[in-house]
Amino acid sequence: MSGQALLLSGDDPRAIPEAAARLAAAGLVAFPTETVYGLGADATCATAVAGVFEAKARPSFNPLICHLATTEAALALARRSSLAERLAARFWPGPLTLVLPGAAACPVDPLARAGLDTVALRVPAHPLAAALLAAFGGPVVAPSANPSGALSPTRAAHVVDGLGDSVDMVIDGGPTPLGIESTVVAIADGTVTLLRPGAVALEEIEGEIGPVRVPGVDPARPSAPGQLASHYAPALPLRLAAFEVGADEALLAFGPRPPEGARLTLNLSPSGDVLEAAANLFHMLHELDRSGARRIAAMAIPETGLGRAINDRLRRAARPRPC
Ligand code: TXA
Ligand code: MG
Repeated sequence: MSGQALLLSGDDPRAIPEAAARLAAAGLVAFPTETVYGLGADATCATAVAGVFEAKARPSFNPLICHLATTEAALALARRSSLAERLAARFWPGPLTLVLPGAAACPVDPLARAGLDTVALRVPAHPLAAALLAAFGGPVVAPSANPSGALSPTRAAHVVDGLGDSVDMVIDGGPTPLGIESTVVAIADGTVTLLRPGAVALEEIEGEIGPVRVPGVDPARPSAPGQLASHYAPALPLRLAAFEVGADEALLAFGPRPPEGARLTLNLSPSGDVLEAAANLFHMLHELDRSGARRIAAMAIPETGLGRAINDRLRRAARPRPC
């Protein structure tokens, strides 16, 4: 794409029809979901899907999530199973992605699926995402709207800063309410496997369908193609489990008593609430990254509820980067 992205507020009545028309013309439209901003494109159009990979500089072996307006439309793209239907009934619309065997006549472009037999499906709850998907009327691939490997965007400005004019249009819906990506689970042969912890806590899923398989984290052998070792990374180096901080560091704090002395301190949740922390995570990392510090230090977060997803992102952000 060339030229400047059109930026329209989600309150502007032109936003949804204009965005749907641009998707239909193979354009790239960034839009808010309840988790993070997505970079949307027509999932059935090879050129549009290729544009997403190009704009993000995303490796083509990493498949994309297809977003649909309704549960019926989503499950029609897959081979149905009772487990998929139970999870869909409980969590859609909402921040859960189901990786299912693709239907025999699945119209999603093979590039979007990275040539796999499976398809990743999600029905977002955000009103602007829902309105756009209903207006467009077909599956929309939407990875997080950031350069591959970088921090996910939770505000329209993050999208513009990260992807600039490689996007046709951005719908500004303000900060995204949950702030961390959807939970991704795969269902195969009657087994549910956690591929990416996210905005639906593992405990909630297990409450619905019983035990979920949680593969050991081996960065050299990712369970999902997107679970690359270094990911969600700020530009600055990051150190974890900090309980003291240097004057040349920026502190990502958590809880009521952060250590003093950092160049800049931002507190994910002074009251120690992991839901509040998830909503603040990416925005605060973006801000700390721009603080002029030499490094970011992050305090420990409990490994419960959404804390699992926050720690997953922080661990990846702290890993050594490819040169
Ligand atoms: O919250 C979200 O899920 C956001 C919003 C925009 O919907 N989207 C998002 O997409 O986070 P992305 O592309 O950044 O992450 C999708 C994840 C990747 O880890 C990818 O590897 C995995 O889903 N995935 C997609 N299709 C898959 C498949 N067929 N099998 C296994 N993993 C898959
Ligand atoms: Mg992403």
